[in-house]
Amino acid sequence: MSTQNVTKGLFRTKNIENTIRDAADSEHSLKRELSALDLTVYGIGVIIGTGIFVLTGTAAKQYAGPAVALSFVAAGVVCALAALCYAEFASTVPVAGSAYTFSYAALGEFPAWLIGWDLILELALGAAVVAVGWSGYIQTLLADIGIHVPTSIGGGTDSHWGLNLPAAALVLAMTALLVIGVKQSARFTTAIVAVKVAVVLLVIVAGLFFVKGSNYHPFIPPTSNKSANAATGAAQPLIQHLGFAPGAYGVMGIFTAAAVVFFAFIGFDVVATAAEEVKKPQRDLPRGILASLAVCTVLYVAVTLVVTGMQKYTLLSEKAPLADAFNATGAHWLSGFISAGAVAGLTSVTLLLLMGQSRVFFAMSRDGLLPRSFSRVHPRFKTPYRSTILLGLVVACFAAVIPLKALAELVNIGTLAAFILVSLGVIILRRTRPDLPRAFRTPGVPYVPIAAILSCLWLMLNLPVETWIRFGLWMLVGLVVYFGYSRRHVTRALEQSSTEPAE
Ligand code: ALA
Repeated sequence: MSTQNVTKGLFRTKNIENTIRDAADSEHSLKRELSALDLTVYGIGVIIGTGIFVLTGTAAKQYAGPAVALSFVAAGVVCALAALCYAEFASTVPVAGSAYTFSYAALGEFPAWLIGWDLILELALGAAVVAVGWSGYIQTLLADIGIHVPTSIGGGTDSHWGLNLPAAALVLAMTALLVIGVKQSARFTTAIVAVKVAVVLLVIVAGLFFVKGSNYHPFIPPTSNKSANAATGAAQPLIQHLGFAPGAYGVMGIFTAAAVVFFAFIGFDVVATAAEEVKKPQRDLPRGILASLAVCTVLYVAVTLVVTGMQKYTLLSEKAPLADAFNATGAHWLSGFISAGAVAGLTSVTLLLLMGQSRVFFAMSRDGLLPRSFSRVHPRFKTPYRSTILLGLVVACFAAVIPLKALAELVNIGTLAAFILVSLGVIILRRTRPDLPRAFRTPGVPYVPIAAILSCLWLMLNLPVETWIRFGLWMLVGLVVYFGYSRRHVTRALEQSSTEPAE
């Protein structure tokens, strides 16, 4: 094959009309039954989780002080810009697979593969990380009623590694729910989301009574090289190696914290992965994405302002900052409620990240980039059961053995890279297919997508060098799989698809 043909193959796009038609084929299609409200609930279900319940403490204590509220605003703005791009893509190509499917239609096969591989980092690894966080909270609750899980099977301690069986058990239970079907999962999600939002509102309202003005001084602590956990070498943000100021406190600290709490917003994009199950995707998908993002941003800023007002940022706990802030004020009964809410919240996040991942996997396998048998849906439940079960087993293994903190940053970098590709895709698709009907149009193209790309890149630069190295290695493995397997198989799958009649 000539170099020109190879390059052409790498950037061959999937015809958008074929993509939508393939999705309608009954053996490989999912039931359409979600509304905009279901989607918003789904979005909130996946967004509010470890980020607000756990990472707020770390980010305030180590990087931003009370100004962590501004970090949430900064991360929220970055996500809103990306969300405007996601919404246009999702309403133009309303089939399962999220950024992967969109980029296949707009950018071509190779970028689509890269982004699909990238989404595995976000969704599968994200689910594992959240399940490990859940395991910590459930063990705290069990300890309150006198049941102590041995550390050897409860995730170990700071100094000793241990299997994390509760985390793995959660992943397997959620996998079973997903196989049974999306409607059951959506009902389950609605109940949990109600509890989670109620607990977040409780933190805000009850916490207001304990706020002390003095805790807000200084609101932006002066720049320091000696934060609670000063990073050195490869653990420093990449931006620091490029000659910028230290990442602890000061204005730069706000951005370092933003790159961490970005994790709290992950999930609005997952709403787009459910495109194929939405009744009126053209109208409801953008509404669902933007509404869930807006609700969560407001709640996060309110929670962080209250919590950093209740307790001096230097004293915040890094394991359960919301519950512990109430403990510190003597309101122990409230802290129990909050822990229970965190358990419910993290359950729904794990479920929905797994669901998003199984849909991306489904879409990639339907295109032949992964073995095609994974895209067969269950004859009765109409769910992509094979990919769901395979993924559930893999994620359960990860959750049982991985340490949590570094992996959360890896999830962030993978997600930010995916956002960049989606934003780029909006600009490209406007040029290559201006004719396509777009129920939602990103305002200010190309400026908004360019702002989204630059702001995502900025947050990525604020992540540690070691995270960049791990991300590079992951993408390298992706290249090996692509050139070793996917490339040959996708050609065959596409040829079959183009010879099939349109109806
Ligand atoms: N945004 C989700 C969380 O905070 C992933 O847990």
